[in-house]
Amino acid sequence: MPRKKLIAANWKMFKTPAEAKAFVDAFLPLVAGHTRDEVALFPSPVLLPTVIAAAKGSIVAVGAQNIHFAEEGAYTGETSVGQLIAIGGTHTLIGHSERRQYFAETDEIVNKKLHTALKHNIIPIVCVGEVLAERESGKTESVIKTQITGALAGITAEAAAPIVIAYEPVWAIGTGKTATPQIAVDAHKIIRAEVARLLGAAVAANIRILYGGSVKPDNATSLLGEEEIDGALVGGASLKPESFAAIAKY
Ligand code: PGA
Repeated sequence: MPRKKLIAANWKMFKTPAEAKAFVDAFLPLVAGHTRDEVALFPSPVLLPTVIAAAKGSIVAVGAQNIHFAEEGAYTGETSVGQLIAIGGTHTLIGHSERRQYFAETDEIVNKKLHTALKHNIIPIVCVGEVLAERESGKTESVIKTQITGALAGITAEAAAPIVIAYEPVWAIGTGKTATPQIAVDAHKIIRAEVARLLGAAVAANIRILYGGSVKPDNATSLLGEEEIDGALVGGASLKPESFAAIAKY
């Protein structure tokens, strides 16, 4: 069975509730009846109730940009997976490069969050990717392998089915410098081989690997046309309904 592509919007720290509601109201008609791919929105925590209510009954899923690994507790400023579930969220990003860069998220923390998400049936999108200096010094493969091995520690093949991975080369995020389809495909193949080594060929054949990093309407077709690229994680170009709909319907 071909893997169903997932087109995901990472809104980062943008939009008010009113702006988020206006986005969903404008976006839903643009993707009505679009069942070829899965579509998901990842707004800030404060926007989640608004976006979930506005997207209810549509093809659009809604998730968090981050969760804490603990079930609950004294973790000021954090969001638990139980809180996400209680308001109807179904997905979460884990280990986005901005979380790694600005909030000191390590592979160990990513791994703990992945365990928590899977335990509660939240669909996790685990983000990996090299920074420019690592690519330029020929370390891309080892960096990606280390991130994947760290993220998947202690995960069994039986539990792994919901996992989605996003390959996001950090040098392509928010820079307008997109990876070529070939660069993305090569990295995806490294990731898929590493998943096969850790969890077996069947898990690797089914796992979805998204590409992220300056995906725009005008490069979406060439990237998403690749069989190896199972979707996109879109930042800047996901903030406008027309632009994100054009990507979703590449
Ligand atoms: P970008 O962000 O599309 O703005 O490059 C992608 C991401 O950070 O997920």
